[in-house]
Amino acid sequence: MKFKSDSHNDYGKFKLDLKSIEKNPFEQFNRWLSDAQKADFIDANAMSISTVNADGKPSSRIVLLKQFDENGFVFFTNYQSRKGKDIEVNPNICALFFWDKLERQIRIEGTIEKISLLESEQYYHSRPYQSRIGAWASEQSQILESRFTLIRKVAKYITKYPINPPLPPFWGGYRLIPEYFEFWQGRESRLHDRFSYQKGDRNWEIQRLYP
Ligand SMILES: Cc1cc2nc3c(=O)[nH]c(=O)nc-3n(C[C@H](O)[C@H](O)[C@H](O)COP(=O)(O)O)c2cc1C
Repeated sequence: MKFKSDSHNDYGKFKLDLKSIEKNPFEQFNRWLSDAQKADFIDANAMSISTVNADGKPSSRIVLLKQFDENGFVFFTNYQSRKGKDIEVNPNICALFFWDKLERQIRIEGTIEKISLLESEQYYHSRPYQSRIGAWASEQSQILESRFTLIRKVAKYITKYPINPPLPPFWGGYRLIPEYFEFWQGRESRLHDRFSYQKGDRNWEIQRLYP
């Protein structure tokens, strides 16, 4: 299948310039995430996370951003998953948000660390019971012989933890600590606005980039 060369939409709903951009990338991110939340996406906080394995091969997947502040961007997962194994050998990761209705993309690059056990526990216990059981039952990214095996494991953990399942030792949060941000705003005739923020010793250095 091929897409026609003129099948792409032209952009131009918004613009981004040095006058209006926030000096602090976390504030700029907050502004755009708030706009996305108001724009009624199903998961405005969904982001693609790319990791690189021991052989230098990249892989990406969507996760949900659950918390963020100036310390970083937090998501939750199974530490023994494919992404978890990649992160063990290479802590460099890249996150990407794309909100099509707003014609906006944000790239965030940095290193990653596990959040504290206490923070993971607080989040885990705020989840619905079925999700907490699901975390126990899923050996995320391992080969699963059949759906029935998964359902049996769910039943096993419901019997084991009929109330209050504890945090699985292999499950918790990661925090992406950014060193670089890039904000992309679609503009007319592919002449998009792009701004990068590079972390310096004292503050963030902002540059406009060619589209
Ligand atoms: C909208 C959406 C949200 C998701 N959120 C998460 C999440 O927060 N945490 C997670 O571990 N996987 C989440 N997933 C599943 C991941 O994309 C992925 O399949 C899973 O984490 C296994 O990835 P891995 O084998 O690369 O480690 C989500 C998938 C989608 C489509």
